[in-house]
Amino acid sequence: MKNKIKIFLTGHRGLVGSSIFKLLKKKGYQKIITIEKKELDLRNQKQTLDFFKKIRPHAVINAAAKVGGINANEVNAANFIYDNIMIQTNVIQSCLVTKVKNLVFLGSSCVYPKFSIQPIKENYLLGGKLEKTNEAMAVAKISGIKMCEYYNQQFNKQYKCLMPSNIYGPNDNYNLKTSHFFPALIKKIYLAKKKKLKKVEIWGTGKPKRELLFVDDLANACLFFLFKKTKYSLINIGSGREKSITKYAEIISKKLNYKCKFIYNKKYPDGTPRKLLNINLSKKLGWKPKINLSKGLDITLEEFFKKNGRI
Ligand SMILES: NC(=O)c1ccc[n+]([C@@H]2O[C@H](COP(=O)([O-])OP(=O)(O)OC[C@H]3O[C@@H](n4cnc5c(N)ncnc54)[C@H](OP(=O)(O)O)[C@@H]3O)[C@@H](O)[C@H]2O)c1
Repeated sequence: MKNKIKIFLTGHRGLVGSSIFKLLKKKGYQKIITIEKKELDLRNQKQTLDFFKKIRPHAVINAAAKVGGINANEVNAANFIYDNIMIQTNVIQSCLVTKVKNLVFLGSSCVYPKFSIQPIKENYLLGGKLEKTNEAMAVAKISGIKMCEYYNQQFNKQYKCLMPSNIYGPNDNYNLKTSHFFPALIKKIYLAKKKKLKKVEIWGTGKPKRELLFVDDLANACLFFLFKKTKYSLINIGSGREKSITKYAEIISKKLNYKCKFIYNKKYPDGTPRKLLNINLSKKLGWKPKINLSKGLDITLEEFFKKNGRI
């Protein structure tokens, strides 16, 4: 079966896509289709549909998106809403037109209300106001979730929307202007050690709590749910554990064996105070996370050292 199934993986060069690609190879899938953004811009409807018609995939995992941390999301809100709505709409609609039965669409925990009851269940979607700093991304992703839901209802599809918590791992974005908080903390503490700086700046108060999941766990979830028959189209994927941003900074500082003082730059917003996902549904359906933070961080740092040098 794995010789025959043609899987189109979008965004294969990204954090999540590269881990999914590795897993598909490891699991023995032989017909994995990928294409670089410079050859196919998924924001282009005609080119996207033409490509789908050419390759005729059996299943699709959409890991392509415009992604970034709190500042990138806020400053480039227009790009975030446009790019993401275009990419996902073109991919989902092309799946429909070319009769793809199985699709995994990736969203994010930012789709849930800012002051949601914790841990957040899937049915809390659209139950309250969104966090302003990531509203554009959230609105785009909610459109994708609803699109899949309606396509499943009307066209009898099995399109799944996985909502992951914050993800970290090899191949992350370490650009301090556009990255998520966790790779930013790794880079800042690493640089402080390298330059023998005693202070490290953290954006905001350091108090918001975040849930982290190692990227290979998410890749496993994507593959697990791609062919899973279920009536549920919206499924949370997380580790079920949260810590404050300061706590994560302390953990990284310990791993890097470097003591430093954290300075809080309150010019930057905190974002949502908490966004811990309730992962009971994914567990009930048979998936659970396997890699704890300590192990995931070791793997992440190994790759970071390979690219940046060990200190
Ligand atoms: N990172 C997280 O913490 C996190 C958390 C929850 C959910 N997610 C979700 O997981 C998915 C993947 O995120 P990620 O962190 O892996 O992002 P990423 O590292 O930025 O990768 C995104 C990928 O999408 C591709 N892409 C972007 N715009 C494109 C376009 N117009 N046409 C074709 N390809 C395009 C990029 O291509 P290039 O490499 O050529 O730029 C890249 O390969 C997203 O849906 C995101 O919302 C991520």
